[in-house]
Amino acid sequence: MNQGPLVFLGVFVTLVTSWFGMIFVPQIQVGELKPVPAEVSGGLYPAAKPGVAQQGAEVYRQQGCYYCHSQQVRQSGVQFDVILMEMGEKTNEVAKIVLQANPRFGDKAVKQLLKQLPKPVLSGANFEETKKTVDKLKDAGAKFEMQVIALGADLNRGWGARRTVANDYLFERTVMLGEQRIGPDLTAIGLRRPDAAWHLNHLYAPTTEVEGSKMPSYTYLFEKRPIGRTPSPDALKLPAAIAPAGYEVVPKPEAKALVAYLLSLKSNAAVFEAPMKPEPKKEDPAAATNVVNAASAVTKP
Ligand code: HEC
Repeated sequence: MNQGPLVFLGVFVTLVTSWFGMIFVPQIQVGELKPVPAEVSGGLYPAAKPGVAQQGAEVYRQQGCYYCHSQQVRQSGVQFDVILMEMGEKTNEVAKIVLQANPRFGDKAVKQLLKQLPKPVLSGANFEETKKTVDKLKDAGAKFEMQVIALGADLNRGWGARRTVANDYLFERTVMLGEQRIGPDLTAIGLRRPDAAWHLNHLYAPTTEVEGSKMPSYTYLFEKRPIGRTPSPDALKLPAAIAPAGYEVVPKPEAKALVAYLLSLKSNAAVFEAPMKPEPKKEDPAAATNVVNAASAVTKP
């Protein structure tokens, strides 16, 4: 029996489905990405990297920094805060809804809370809970705002203000997502450590900056040369213990480019598709004033 057509059909279907899954669908999803207006800075996000930082990306690749450092911040879920702005007409009903959402508050505490708006009436809630409360507030004619808060271990470690999105990689020609996480994620290292001198010292001898660091040192990206009549302005300021006597340590162009690249890693602009990690809450000045303590402080001998 001639099985030719069947084999041909099998091969054809395999090729077409893989082309569809690996080329066509991704093209539809991310092929059209372009920089978006940045909400805070007003420019476009992401901006193209300066040339020296692009050279630095090549050094990063050559040195295999991505074997130990990732560039992807993940998010494990979200939670919601609801902030009541105005009660509207039906104050009693709104008070009831707030009490239902926070049974542990009690009647009195809720009344107290609603005296001074805006106030958060739901915090750290899941989607179902939030939707229930929000729908009721809407029906009662109250005005409120909802905040989506990103959660996740990466965010808690301070590796980024939000999860990374496809747009963050728009100007990366080979995206270096990383292999393993032996060291910290570097998605936003340019914001976390904006000091070029720190990075140069850290690359030359990691333990000078981070006690007990297990990162390998990249001394060959630096040049050790006798101090001439005029010391180089680029020379590293090393602790006496490791500074070679009579010599200065000067970064080679590769090291400078690498640091320019590290400082350019700042994926943190607010984007539509990823909620931000909340800023650390400022103390409520009213709550901080403790009358009893203030009085006892005055009477202290
Ligand atoms: C063998 C694994 C390894 C390799 C390869 C490696 N690192 Fe690291 N890196 C670490 C570890 C571990 C730390 C955490 C300790 C420290 O801060 O020194 C670290 C920390 C860092 C930090 C500080 C991060 C922070 O949040 O403070 C930077 C920046 C950095 N590495 C850059 C680089 C660059 C650039 C390269 C490539 C030239 C590189 N690393 C290669 C393991 C590695």
